[in-house]
Amino acid sequence: MINFRMKQAATALALACVLGAAHAQSPAAPDGSLFRDLGGLPVIQQVVDDFMRNMLDDTRIRHTFKDSNIKRVKDKLVEQFCQLSGGGCVYTGDPMREVHQGLKLSNADFNALVEDLQLAMDKNGIPSRTQNRLLALLAPMQRETVSR
Ligand code: HEM
Repeated sequence: MINFRMKQAATALALACVLGAAHAQSPAAPDGSLFRDLGGLPVIQQVVDDFMRNMLDDTRIRHTFKDSNIKRVKDKLVEQFCQLSGGGCVYTGDPMREVHQGLKLSNADFNALVEDLQLAMDKNGIPSRTQNRLLALLAPMQRETVSR
């Protein structure tokens, strides 16, 4: 099961990287089709809720959130996913590099986060094709969040 999950995560991440490179100049999905396919704001909110719960249960990365305002991070993630998928929200959080540079995150931390997001999207019945479209929009942020 774990091997399957890791393989699934690695595949999705590889795909996300490929697609991400193509989208690097235009990270938003302005037509809103991804936002609709994700299920709109209620599903994005539920996904972010489950995503955060997964991260806080994940012994690989939960320590990174020990001093954080979890409610704020969740609110900003919802805004960000909504904006990126073309839902018309405006992200009002801080720049990704600024938020994450002090955390000294690794590629392994990033992969753990992707896995936790995939589990949350699975739980909410989001098809893998739609999952990969969101992951592709997040992939370019790897270099802004990872610093070691
Ligand atoms: C695509 C990758 C990522 C995205 C899109 C993302 C997104 C965000 C957002 C929107 C916030 C809130 C910003 C704000 O408060 O203004 C945040 C904060 C945070 N993220 Fe990430 N993040 C990513 C990668 C990671 C990774 C890999 C980790 C650790 C494994 C991580 C750990 C954190 C922590 C601990 C905070 C809270 C920082 C604080 O309290 O000051 N993030 N992230």
